[in-house]
Amino acid sequence: MNEIQQRIIELKEKNDACILAHCYQTHDILEIADYVGDSFGLAQKAAVAKNKTIIMCGVRFMAETVKILSPEKRVLIPREEAGCPMAEQLDPDMLLQLKQKYPDHKVVAYINTTAELKTLCDVCVTSSSAVKIIKKLDSDNILFIPDCNLGDYVKKQVPEKKIKLISGGCPTHAKLTAAEAKAAKAAHPGALFLVHPECQPEVVALADFVGSTTEIMDFAAKSDAEEFIIGTENSIVQHLGIQHPEKLFHPLSKDCVCHNMKVTTIADVLHTLEGRSGFEITMDEEQRLAAKKCIDEMLRLGNG
Ligand code: 13P
Ligand code: SF4
Repeated sequence: MNEIQQRIIELKEKNDACILAHCYQTHDILEIADYVGDSFGLAQKAAVAKNKTIIMCGVRFMAETVKILSPEKRVLIPREEAGCPMAEQLDPDMLLQLKQKYPDHKVVAYINTTAELKTLCDVCVTSSSAVKIIKKLDSDNILFIPDCNLGDYVKKQVPEKKIKLISGGCPTHAKLTAAEAKAAKAAHPGALFLVHPECQPEVVALADFVGSTTEIMDFAAKSDAEEFIIGTENSIVQHLGIQHPEKLFHPLSKDCVCHNMKVTTIADVLHTLEGRSGFEITMDEEQRLAAKKCIDEMLRLGNG
């Protein structure tokens, strides 16, 4: 542990703070976090954490999810500008128009959406829970927002449902191409190709394994293979390399970096605990209760 990390450990005990970190954070942040995981795991932790203060190292919609589930807690994000372009791409008017166009459809929202948008949806899903939840949903007609790549992946896994997609998604994953995947596989013929479902369908089609960030990390840890190409944000390459130095991990592209996730540094986490930095999430109670319904539904269907 370095000096900043030591100080963070002392202060989080003293301030009764819990640090949650998404897997796309840097390794030094993962080392001081109380919990590290994918979006579904973070939502589950948010629902049960006992501390007075929660510091969410990730992007804003993740901190909003914590606040929706734990309104009595002080929820902070170290950097206000850590947003997610996919979460912010639709506004409520655009969604209301889509709902009018598809009135007999249940609206399934990827958790990467704003709290405001969640108030208009029936259920949330994450990349690790989408297939399970959509299979269980009591409707055959589904409008899936906003990621058409994850939506396409779900459609192929759940062909019995009629799933309408819109165009949109994660700019970080969408820029990975099938040509890059073919070149990486040719360069590393013994490697397994692990891919996030936010990637384009042509990239996903070339994968040996498709999963959320936590699922990709678990797969690589348990696999007997010694070499992997990683088709998701490059933090996962860093974490896997540190955790399994006996194995080789290649990024599919050096450009697969989410700058919103990377805006938070270990120093920002310290400054947030010191009260010198950090942005507190606040929410109107009516909006919170309306948004909570679709997160509760996700936890009910996803945990069962
Ligand atoms: P997961 O960690 O749920 O796979 O989500 C990936 C992501 O892009 C989060 O913003
Ligand atoms: Fe949003 Fe993509 Fe960054 Fe995740 S990786 S926070 S979906 S932009």
